Amino acid sequence: MGIQWTNDFLVGNPTIDRQHKELFRAFGELVDACRLGKGKNKIEELLDFLEVYVIFHFDAEEKLMEQSNYPGREAHRTAHAGFISQLKELKIMFGKDGASMELLITTNETVLRWLIEHIRKTDTALGAYLKTV
Ligand SMILES: [Fe+2]
Ligand SMILES: [Fe+2]
Repeated sequence: MGIQWTNDFLVGNPTIDRQHKELFRAFGELVDACRLGKGKNKIEELLDFLEVYVIFHFDAEEKLMEQSNYPGREAHRTAHAGFISQLKELKIMFGKDGASMELLITTNETVLRWLIEHIRKTDTALGAYLKTV
């Protein structure tokens, strides 16, 4: 399963959309690195990058929510925190078993589905709100 960006994921805020594209790119690289049996170093590098970039991205969205007084910001923030702990679990899994099939499957199915669902619903609602303020 490839991870393909399509314009269906656009939320209408240029900063958020640019960062989402970068997340898709990095997750795609991670999935490919696992699938193609690339070295541990590459996978570790991508997991480290994602951890930093996801936090950077969530901070950016949370600032936009604060600045615009977005009514849904509490629930949105909670969803972000859940995602960060899932990413941490991926890192723990990698630390224990390396670039296992399990890591590939979890990355693909759980984290990615979560990311896509979050973008399509939660971030899209935020993007729509930001256009009105
Ligand atoms: Fe978000
Ligand atoms: Fe987002």
